[in-house]
Amino acid sequence: MPTQSMEQLVSLCKRRGFIFQTNEIYGGLQGVYDYGPLGVELKENLKKAWWTAMVYSRDDVEGLDASILTNKKVLKYSGHEDTFTDPLVDCKDCKNRMRADHIKDSKCLHCGSTNLTKPRPFNLMFRTNIGPISDDDSYAYLRPETAQQIFTNFKNVVDSTSKSIPFGIAQIGKAFRNEITPRNFIFRVREFEQMELEFFVKKGEDEDWHKYWIKERINWWVQQGVEKDKIKVLNVPQEELSHYSKATIDLMYEFPHGVEELEGIANRTDFDLGSHSKNQEDLDITADVLKNKDSNARLAVQNINSKKWEVPYVIEPSAGVDRGVLAILNESYKEETLENGKNRVVLALKPHLSPIKAAVIPIKKNDSTIVDFSKKIKDNLQKLGLGRVVLENTGNIGKSYRKHDEIGTPICITIDFETLEDSTVTVRDRDTMEQKRVKVETLDNLMRNLLVK
Ligand code: GAP
Repeated sequence: MPTQSMEQLVSLCKRRGFIFQTNEIYGGLQGVYDYGPLGVELKENLKKAWWTAMVYSRDDVEGLDASILTNKKVLKYSGHEDTFTDPLVDCKDCKNRMRADHIKDSKCLHCGSTNLTKPRPFNLMFRTNIGPISDDDSYAYLRPETAQQIFTNFKNVVDSTSKSIPFGIAQIGKAFRNEITPRNFIFRVREFEQMELEFFVKKGEDEDWHKYWIKERINWWVQQGVEKDKIKVLNVPQEELSHYSKATIDLMYEFPHGVEELEGIANRTDFDLGSHSKNQEDLDITADVLKNKDSNARLAVQNINSKKWEVPYVIEPSAGVDRGVLAILNESYKEETLENGKNRVVLALKPHLSPIKAAVIPIKKNDSTIVDFSKKIKDNLQKLGLGRVVLENTGNIGKSYRKHDEIGTPICITIDFETLEDSTVTVRDRDTMEQKRVKVETLDNLMRNLLVK
């Protein structure tokens, strides 16, 4: 399937209500977007698919929904205060700032000048004040990754669920980074969502689990409709690894603007639990951690044979929800020329991701018998709890089909005068455009077969 231009996707998103620039009526806010009526459904469906695969379908993973506001000590011991930086340069001529690693041929990205400052580190975390006093000490951070709150809750989850390693904690939620150059629509933004799993394993078994999760995660993206050939596995070079990582694999996807990271799968060793733990000297921590004088918890598990306390290693698959949405839109967007020479745009989404699962269309918008019958069908299908079903009462069947092709609705159900006589309806398939006549009472099963695998 060809990769679309970013403009085609941005235009569809705005036109049909998937994604809008935030605060547009005031000129926007750079690197921040809002999800509209269809975008919120698509995003929720992607998150639901992740949660189902990573939590519900396993017995070795528990969920968490922790706070966004984060105690500054967490981000001190995690290493983010010192190392979560990008190299930044200023253009002395046009005064714009940009990431040093984005610059080509030593030229300003905005005006082409070579009159640039030397790169200097710029911390990407957002700080905010807590409480009524605004002094240098009363600040917290908006979390730059969801992961840290998982590590700080490690003991709570172990104590409350009696889990033993190997096991994981999964979380989906917002993260914030003051990106120097947000760009490429929702690819690099300042407020985004992550789907992260921290999977705790025994030291020595970490490399096998790393391989396991790489495979699992590629398979999951393929199940969401991403073509396998469009995912490249990049072994991040040693010199580019994050401060916590022993090895990281990036799943690189062919986005409309180029091949870039969709998800990272890192072996974080015992760095995080080790750095947030008290009594570090008793724990044989292998990673290079800051001496912790503040934590009141031992983040370790007891080896039942040796009785020694050991800090688990962590394998972390970390995916961006927004990048996922962009990849899914890119994969499913198609422009087709029909036999009659007309063009149609289709969003060939997997049905479980479609914002609307079925559109019920009365053939005549002013015929109360047909409209009431249609409403009844819509209500019954909605009650199945399989996702959103809408009543599309425009009176224009062709226009309704075109709209629902473009927003990825897998089936349209048309109610006409025949329906009133023999309780049959026309079901039109989005991808094949085939129409078949079926009994109303078969619609429940038809929907279930479409959505439940
Ligand atoms: N906990 C590990 C971590 O945060 P990361 O590679 O910095 O690692 C993980 O981020 C994922 O989060 C990325 O693969 C990407 O999908 C998403 N992500 C990171 N920064 C982003 C940004 N500025 N805008 C959108 N998504 C972003």
